[in-house]
Amino acid sequence: MADTPMVAAHHVRLGSNSGQSMTRKDGLAKVTGKANYAADNRPEGLLHAVFAGASIARGRVTLLDTKAALAHPGVVHVMTPENTPALSQDPDEKTTPFTARIDVLQHNDVRYAGQPIAVVVAETLEAAIEGARLIKAEYDEQPARIGFDDGEAFTPEAVGISTPPKFATGDLEAQRKQAASSVSVVVETPLQYHNAMEPHAVVAAWDGDKLTVDMPNQAIGLAKPGIANYFGIPAENVTLRSPYLGGGFGSKAVLFGPQMLGILAARELKRPVKLALKRDQMFGPVQHRSATRQTVRYDIDADNRLLAFEHQANVSTSSFDNWLDGAANAGLSLYATPAISVAHSGTRFDTGTPGAMRAPGIATGSAVIECAIDMAAEKAGMDPLEFRLHNYAEKDHSNGKPYSAKALRECYETAANAFGWTDRPPKPGQMRDEDGLLTGWGMGTSIFHAPFFPAKARAVLRKDGTARAETSGADMGQGAWTALWQMAADGLGMAADDIDFDIGHSDLPDGSVAGGSAHTASAGGALFAAGNDVIRQLAEIATKDSDSPLFGAGNERLIGENGRLFKASDPSVGEPYTAILERAGIDEIEGQGRGNRDKASTETYAMFSHGAVFAEVKVDPDLYQVRVTRLIGAFAAGRIINPRLAKSQLTGGMIWGMSFALHEEGVHDKRTGRPLNNDFAGYHIPVLADVPHVEALLVDEDDPHVNDLGVKGVGELGITGTVGAIANAVWHAIGVRTPRYPIKIEDLLKGAEALKA
Ligand code: MOS
Repeated sequence: MADTPMVAAHHVRLGSNSGQSMTRKDGLAKVTGKANYAADNRPEGLLHAVFAGASIARGRVTLLDTKAALAHPGVVHVMTPENTPALSQDPDEKTTPFTARIDVLQHNDVRYAGQPIAVVVAETLEAAIEGARLIKAEYDEQPARIGFDDGEAFTPEAVGISTPPKFATGDLEAQRKQAASSVSVVVETPLQYHNAMEPHAVVAAWDGDKLTVDMPNQAIGLAKPGIANYFGIPAENVTLRSPYLGGGFGSKAVLFGPQMLGILAARELKRPVKLALKRDQMFGPVQHRSATRQTVRYDIDADNRLLAFEHQANVSTSSFDNWLDGAANAGLSLYATPAISVAHSGTRFDTGTPGAMRAPGIATGSAVIECAIDMAAEKAGMDPLEFRLHNYAEKDHSNGKPYSAKALRECYETAANAFGWTDRPPKPGQMRDEDGLLTGWGMGTSIFHAPFFPAKARAVLRKDGTARAETSGADMGQGAWTALWQMAADGLGMAADDIDFDIGHSDLPDGSVAGGSAHTASAGGALFAAGNDVIRQLAEIATKDSDSPLFGAGNERLIGENGRLFKASDPSVGEPYTAILERAGIDEIEGQGRGNRDKASTETYAMFSHGAVFAEVKVDPDLYQVRVTRLIGAFAAGRIINPRLAKSQLTGGMIWGMSFALHEEGVHDKRTGRPLNNDFAGYHIPVLADVPHVEALLVDEDDPHVNDLGVKGVGELGITGTVGAIANAVWHAIGVRTPRYPIKIEDLLKGAEALKA
């Protein structure tokens, strides 16, 4: 529904497309194989590039023997630091906070295992693979430093992109003096590798100094100028196409070395080049989640109220860049805590540089916080849910701001009821199923901030009654093709099927980053506004046209719906869009839009999505093998555009949480620094058999402040809370808390033995 004249309404009404559980608009193309992913492109004259990776994690390449590779029939060219031209921009320069330092054969230093040291380009993929195997390297090797006890400690200046590494409010010591008890826990989280199903890939084709790039990307608006800078061409010379991404998880939001090398090879050879990473090459140059070593302490008074919250996180990054996961920021706005002190320290590992991954900071931090809260509840002799409600934050205690909306109480209630939480025995080890498996129930609170990016969009209404709506946005599987389409249709006041909708390439208005769980609000808000801009212009034409039934209604509220513009006060007075355009002799009307968040709202309110997750696990009493048998979450994230897709994202997030709790861990060889489990046999993720029952429930929430449309994100919310819920359920099953994630049989055995002793 398009409302006009555009009021500076805080809370715009969306129309009938939003709120519908439409099936994926891209579904048919995907299941029929018609959806073109980057590596599916094969332009005429295509060459294949495969890079050879360093077998050491730290040192220098002293000799690179390319003779055998070059002698291979089919190999066309081998790029090494010796013959690779300098890029127009130093790849170690940080031009934006989003820029990652990348390795593109500009030096002989080795900074992590798997770093590209040569690129073999060949007529066939097979020849390129074989050629890369024939590259022989000699090294001056330094000992690898991977792990908090081996890496070099440093004091960070920022976490994430720009957040200060330290924060404190209230008087921690004064609060502690009043405390009746405290709990404190130290937990480590491992390196995790994003491992989107679709490996990073590029197909690059140059035409003079014009470049066309097929590359999965979450942030086309950043990638386009970024690529242009590296190659010394104007941004308008870059065409970037990214209609579909096979997952991103944060790792396709910035530019990486391998893909830039593919573009470089194409320029060198004056032919199109494809470079697609193999699975094992995704464990180095394309980011990962920082490892963390965290300490969380809560101090509690005699009434079981939290008095003080302290969170310290030692976080890994690479030897040559500074991105740090903001784990210790996860609890700032979570529970009612008069005193807060959080701080990050950094440790340099000889790995690639980490980056944003699936709720960066919040996932890692909440995995530990939720355990600490559970331990506090146990100490208080209270049920974990009751304890969380007892310490419910009515405002954001880190800054005193009210929440723009917070339906967390309703989430707790909805999920607890669906789960059957009331029957939970307070002590661990009390429940067994009919097969004798120890059963445990645990819970966690979900929270994720609600950022907003300045996305742009365009909408064009045509005289035949159809329209076009577009923004560069990215669908990495989350459903942007569908949810954004719905919002575009509501902006125009039309049926989605009457609109040609387009996203995923750089000729479109900048739809900003598909990240931070902000894409629907930001790009969707822009699309809605673009449609509204069209309707505003249409209304201007109609109300000035003496032949229109809307003539003279310029000061009235008009509504566009189902392709018809009419008076809000009397819907019978109106006419179809086509009639207005026809009489005016106009072929089309173009509208521009930006999503809007009120500046004052940003300063006044704390903005978050919330949720509650309940987990059931079963633990074999002899083998200590853990299975998650039920995960039920309830979430409140403002206005939900597409319930089916929102639930899909939330259940996906909960499965990420299960993956974090029980499966994922990047293991590096202590001596060589090489990743040991760089395939899906060794790097575990849940398969269907691991996921028997995962359910996401949606709780209504009206958020009048977060942005014009009241839309918040659901992409990353589901992982937060889930990790701790599973750990708490394991404790409830067998009484053991483990000192690190993923929860492992050997740690459970150790813990169980300690309990017996
Ligand atoms: Mo994300 S980790 O905001 O793509």
